[in-house]
Amino acid sequence: MKKEVSPSPSLKGVIRVPSDKSISQRAAIFALLHEGESRVLNYSPANDPQSTLKCVQDLGATIRQEGDELVITGTGRKGVHTPTKDIECDNSGTAMRLLSGVLVGAGITAKLCGDTSLTERPMKRIIEPLESMGAHILARNSGWPPLYISREDELNAINFELPIASAQLKSCILLAGLFGEIPTKVIETIPSRDHTERLLGLNIEMKDGKRIISSGLSDVIPAHNYTVPGDFSSASFWLVAGAISNDAEIVLEGVGLNPTRNAALHVLKEMGADITIFNQGSEGAEPIGDLLVKNSRLRAISIDPALIPNCIDELPILAVAMLYADGTSIISGASELRHKETDRIMAISNMLKAVGADFEERKDGVVINGDPNFEFEGAKFKSYHDHRIAMASAILALKGDKESVIKGAQHASVSYAEFWEDLESIRS
Ligand code: S3P
Repeated sequence: MKKEVSPSPSLKGVIRVPSDKSISQRAAIFALLHEGESRVLNYSPANDPQSTLKCVQDLGATIRQEGDELVITGTGRKGVHTPTKDIECDNSGTAMRLLSGVLVGAGITAKLCGDTSLTERPMKRIIEPLESMGAHILARNSGWPPLYISREDELNAINFELPIASAQLKSCILLAGLFGEIPTKVIETIPSRDHTERLLGLNIEMKDGKRIISSGLSDVIPAHNYTVPGDFSSASFWLVAGAISNDAEIVLEGVGLNPTRNAALHVLKEMGADITIFNQGSEGAEPIGDLLVKNSRLRAISIDPALIPNCIDELPILAVAMLYADGTSIISGASELRHKETDRIMAISNMLKAVGADFEERKDGVVINGDPNFEFEGAKFKSYHDHRIAMASAILALKGDKESVIKGAQHASVSYAEFWEDLESIRS
């Protein structure tokens, strides 16, 4: 699907951003492992969380909608079903990696598949530790989906130091560990998003500046009765849209403000963005708040590589902010971006190329020479089948002198089902 996006001189309004994708998916998977009912309010209607619901149904969960609540009846750890068909994760790396951990822990034999994009995402990172826990995993070319998972040997507890700051990898191993008599420990040097630890209430110790998270059979899996907060990653598109607009006042309601997720907020503030946080509170284990963004003059920034895991999904839209910031901005230490729904360093570079920006693509990031008065005529953007690239291009398109076109615009719905409607609602 193609979308034409015309320039917008001013952006005003109130948006309740969609519910968090990562938390929705975890709510579904953790509810499967709880024996009994979980009641989840505000479960995300976006594609990835909906795919995850189908997967947990294939593993034995039953699901019904009661008013605004999604009622998920889980099987408990002991009752996970052997699926009668392939488990289809569609576009979702989170579903594939977290469910691999569940299958290995539960000792279930199953095949996990995905769409063309997911089939190109690396799985060796989970295969190696899961095999050391006793799994047997067959993968295409030893490292790519589909994955055929089984475990005949006993489940081994492992002490696993994360070689990359990845919450999907961390959660995969912790989920497998949940089934073991002896706790599994995951050691994290650079903190990645911590929704799994928070929502499962896992034990965390600090040693020599590292986080050691344990999971085992003795951890009680609670019912997951909560309201899923608004997705900070979705909010970030409007934060940047407001910051780079010539005239903006956008309120974002009920946004998740987990500190392991919201580094982009600090990056934008350091760039000079006018963002106010108010109505702060919490939703279950997660902090939330409302955000107000107004237009401002941005200055360039070099993002500290240690912050990259906490703004990994926001880098495409931060690149747009950098294009309108005064001076040279640098994203480095972000080679993980090459392993997302598409190679996002390539996709960011092509988005910038489409508008004639002055930038340099690097192996692990991008250097952008920004200008608050940067101008381009309309441009032709491609989403590369990637939701975040589709949405970042749309925000950039608002700044063109003429209409731009975004090819593959439908992919926005992977995390944000109503992105295009929300965009219309704030333009004037
Ligand atoms: C996610 C973790 C991140 C993120 C993805 C969702 C999660 O991936 O990019 O969109 O829900 O755990 P990595 O853990 O691979 O960095």
